[in-house]
Amino acid sequence: MLEKVEELMVKHIESLKDSKSLELFGKVPSGKRLRAKLILKIASSSDEAIKLASIVELIHAASLLHDDVIDDALTRRGVASINSTFGNKTAIMLGDILYSKGFSELTSLPQDVAYSISSAVTQLSIGELLDVELSSTFNEDLDAYFDMIYKKTASLIEASAFSAALLAKKDAKRYGIYGKNLGLAFQIIDDILDITQSQEVLGKPALNDFKEGKTTLPYLYMYNDLNDKEKEQLRSYFKKELSEEESMWIKKKMAQTNAINRSIEYAKKLGFEALEMIKEENSPELEKIIKEMIVREF
Ligand code: FPP
Ligand code: MG
Repeated sequence: MLEKVEELMVKHIESLKDSKSLELFGKVPSGKRLRAKLILKIASSSDEAIKLASIVELIHAASLLHDDVIDDALTRRGVASINSTFGNKTAIMLGDILYSKGFSELTSLPQDVAYSISSAVTQLSIGELLDVELSSTFNEDLDAYFDMIYKKTASLIEASAFSAALLAKKDAKRYGIYGKNLGLAFQIIDDILDITQSQEVLGKPALNDFKEGKTTLPYLYMYNDLNDKEKEQLRSYFKKELSEEESMWIKKKMAQTNAINRSIEYAKKLGFEALEMIKEENSPELEKIIKEMIVREF
């Protein structure tokens, strides 16, 4: 059914009758299509569900095009990012085309669905702004981190699950909470993989977050357990191109403070909370999504 979503996404862009947009869209890598999978699992494969999935994936792709400009990312999913190949201006405008087309298609879905998705996109943008602000100085505030990842990542996953449940006339509130916890766990795992995985597996440079000024959950857990001298040492590495020795020091301290395992445990706890919300639905497929999200390598 995912193929139908892919086809519809292409149809949306074809309907614009602009060959440049279509050509550029063809160069955007597909990704995991987590949001589409989630929507189809909750709302099965009705035409409305496929349409919702195609819209959410267009919006998500747009947000990553903008995010790569904001983060100066050279690669996305293992290939050169649109901004690095075609420049920032093209990446931003392609993002604008994708998300505004997504929004115009959204007007044909029920109003409560359209409201949920469009409000989530506002939260997404606020979350990205928070991410930029938090990384301008060394953030040591856990609550600020959780608030930012909720808005930046979990809000659209929450709205996807909530809206799919609305379409399927299921308990949207419970599905929304499932989606929120799933989204938070997903971002935490993403932040962990930035530290534990190699560049080859990730398709982007490893230990990149800290270099960008992002003190993600493992850094926050580790930082709190360091002594004053070590705290100062970590702060001196902030937003710096790290030498091999400096990277090794960070990884050693991560191990000593058990920061990675504690972060994984926290993501798992969120996963269990998500499962708790849908346990009466008896859906092994929704449970599988949680497991795939948490136990993954990239
Ligand atoms: C990835 O974060 C970024 C997001 C999940 C959201 C980005 C949102 C915007 C740019 C708001 C604008 C929205 C639209 C629709 C145009 P990351 O940098 O932590 O993850 P990464 O490692 O995958 O880059
Ligand atoms: Mg990024």
